[in-house]
Amino acid sequence: MPRIELKHVTKMFGKFVAVDDLNMIIDDRSFVTLLGPSGCGKTTTLRMIAGLETPTEGTITINDRVVFSSEEGIDVPPDKRDVGFLFQNYALWPHMTVYKNISFGLENLKWPKDRIADRVEELLEMLKITEFSARYPSELSGGQQQRVAIARTLSTGPKALFMDEPLSNLDAKLRMEMRTELKRLHRETDSTFVYVTHDQLEAMTLSTMVCLMKEGYTQQYAPPLEVYRKPANTFAADFVGSPNINLIEAEVETATPLVLKFGTASRLKFTANAPLALKEGKQVTLGIRPEHITIVEEGATIEAEIQSSLPSGMETIVALDLDGIRLHSVIFGDLDFEVGKLVGLTFKGAGINLFDREDGRLIAQGTLTKA
Ligand SMILES: Nc1ncnc2c1ncn2[C@@H]1O[C@H](COP(=O)(O)OP(=O)(O)OP(=O)(O)O)[C@@H](O)[C@H]1O
Ligand SMILES: [Mg+2]
Repeated sequence: MPRIELKHVTKMFGKFVAVDDLNMIIDDRSFVTLLGPSGCGKTTTLRMIAGLETPTEGTITINDRVVFSSEEGIDVPPDKRDVGFLFQNYALWPHMTVYKNISFGLENLKWPKDRIADRVEELLEMLKITEFSARYPSELSGGQQQRVAIARTLSTGPKALFMDEPLSNLDAKLRMEMRTELKRLHRETDSTFVYVTHDQLEAMTLSTMVCLMKEGYTQQYAPPLEVYRKPANTFAADFVGSPNINLIEAEVETATPLVLKFGTASRLKFTANAPLALKEGKQVTLGIRPEHITIVEEGATIEAEIQSSLPSGMETIVALDLDGIRLHSVIFGDLDFEVGKLVGLTFKGAGINLFDREDGRLIAQGTLTKA
């Protein structure tokens, strides 16, 4: 099956390790996002796959063909890798019409005239820019220009399309629109998309797989909802989701049953989904998604004070003080809560995360009940 494979790919700039021993399989027709904070190595990774940057070590295979190997001394130039790029500063040619911007590359490749015309028509339609075909880039909005840039990149029908923050120049509304378009394009073309972003929402909503990076290391490579539901560590847990996951520092008080103590004198019982043996005194971090904290009238597990209530109609974001610890809860529906009031909380579901505080890794998932 055609796919992109990275094996032990490392990139050093002098002594600085920008990407460290990256192993990744990008399946054919998948939509992979490289996600992470500024400077974590996303662009460098993308450029290495594209052939614009030479890895210090490792092997890169595209469609069963080795395009880079430090050991074998193979380095296939970018234009021979059958890939297309779309970078943040996609410069359209200002003196060419939309039509010409798209057809130009095909003319250079000496495609026959009628085939070029067919292809450009097809792309104009696919990107919904047919009506602008005679205009110049300066006569288009940012989003329309972006569509032209995408059409131009897709024109030769590359098997893989690489995009580095292509929507970052657009305003919030256009970004939303273009996300939907990109998802549609991905379905309609047979291409594999590799997409760089530091926007977790973009990565969550667009991709089939997320590669979450930090300081050159891969933190987790998994489908977006798996990163959300089962984050590999506290970094991954905190990076995806808005409002952020609640991270509570706690200590193991007793091992069986597993009772965690936190704050000044609060306790909760954690029942892991799989057998788990922790030592008394172990330092852990509880990770609770805001939507897993419910405010209840009866049968509370623990009490907290309402600090603020932000109703937006569809949902209300509530800030709570639980024994000196600030928590956020998302309550669905058009509810409002009285600030300063003491309320009862319960914790929903069996997807409460327990992390090791030493290395941040996920130890277990389970339920939280009264100790
Ligand atoms: N040519 C270079 N020479 C030296 N260091 C570099 C070079 N290119 C990148 N770096 C460093 O490598 C690290 C990774 O850079 P990269 O551009 O891949 O980050 P990024 O994840 O794309 O960040 P951003 O979200 O800000 O675009 C950064 O610390 C950067 O300073
Ligand atoms: Mg970058």
